[in-house]
Amino acid sequence: MSVLRGAARAVMKAIRVTEFGGPEVLKIEAKVPIPNPEDHQILVRVHASGINPVDTYIRSGTHNIRPALPFTPGMDSAGVVEKVGKAVTHFKPGDRVYSVRTVTGAYAEYAVVEEPYVAHLHKSLSFEQGAGIGVPYYTAYRSLILRANGKPGETVLIHGASGGVGIAACQIARALGFTVLGTAGTTEGIELVLKNGAHKAFNHREKGYLSKITDATNGQGPDIILEMLANVNLENDLNLIKTRGRIVNIGSRGTIQISPRFTMGKECVVTGVMLMTSSPTDWAQMHGALRAGMEQGWLKPYIGTSYPLEQASQSHTEIMKDSGHKGKIILKS
Ligand SMILES: NC(=O)c1ccc[n+]([C@@H]2O[C@H](COP(=O)([O-])OP(=O)(O)OC[C@H]3O[C@@H](n4cnc5c(N)ncnc54)[C@H](OP(=O)(O)O)[C@@H]3O)[C@@H](O)[C@H]2O)c1
Repeated sequence: MSVLRGAARAVMKAIRVTEFGGPEVLKIEAKVPIPNPEDHQILVRVHASGINPVDTYIRSGTHNIRPALPFTPGMDSAGVVEKVGKAVTHFKPGDRVYSVRTVTGAYAEYAVVEEPYVAHLHKSLSFEQGAGIGVPYYTAYRSLILRANGKPGETVLIHGASGGVGIAACQIARALGFTVLGTAGTTEGIELVLKNGAHKAFNHREKGYLSKITDATNGQGPDIILEMLANVNLENDLNLIKTRGRIVNIGSRGTIQISPRFTMGKECVVTGVMLMTSSPTDWAQMHGALRAGMEQGWLKPYIGTSYPLEQASQSHTEIMKDSGHKGKIILKS
């Protein structure tokens, strides 16, 4: 269906990575062929793409996902459907959409996406906000509901609540009826966490904050911990968690040595999440839950700096800086 709107174009601007390495390997190219969608695919005119830490791991060549070179990075995008393949059923040209995964890369003017990883973007949200939904919100929902099997009325500690996944987790947990505790490393981060749904917030750089969390749960500990930096916090989490609670490792940037007896004393479950392994049923459930969040107005991505596509390398330097209250970093194309 449909051809490119306006003047037909065959080429686009896109970021291309020709070798793995630091942020400087993200180079803009002006004449990259616009990809063509296959039967089950959709071509999106991308207006904004969201930067995630995983994009930097993939760019550096240290992640399990090692795309063939050259490639265009990026999973999270938001824009308008330009063209759909013959077998696409739920989308048509002109629809506003966001993606949580792409085939050809989100840091570009156009991206091909598979139908299961695209959803309609509610009219109340901008393209920048749409680009902030994908990986953070789906990871947060998957961790709290599908991995921890969280139930309304339970207490969740979001250990690292001021970043992309953390803010999403605060909003989701609050909307679904959890008691929400969050941590951040700065005063601004704590304010942000409280504004986005946490009932109480603590500073994870402050000595003694763990005992304040225990006190806030009447000495019992949280039912669930969503952990953003497991290599630093997992041993503390095992001390903190309620008996028979659940810990979900979302982020970890190194190793940690822990005695197995910690899991015995608490009879707790320690598990992990890997968003991209979600089944088709899980994707459908996550789309449904987050659509409700947009319709009801509690899903509100917090956007920080927007860079033009040409400045993708700055955006990668920025995302890895140690200041979680920075808001989602976006590329505009
Ligand atoms: N497994 C998956 O499928 C999956 C999916 C998405 C993300 N992730 C991973 O999850 C992590 C968070 O992602 P993101 O997008 O939210 O990153 P982000 O926006 O950069 O946020 C990082 C968060 O970590 C917090 N943090 C820093 N030091 C901490 C500490 N000592 N204890 C607890 N938290 C601490 C930061 O808080 P302050 O800056 O306020 O100190 C901030 O809230 C990353 O490692 C990412 O790679 C994994």
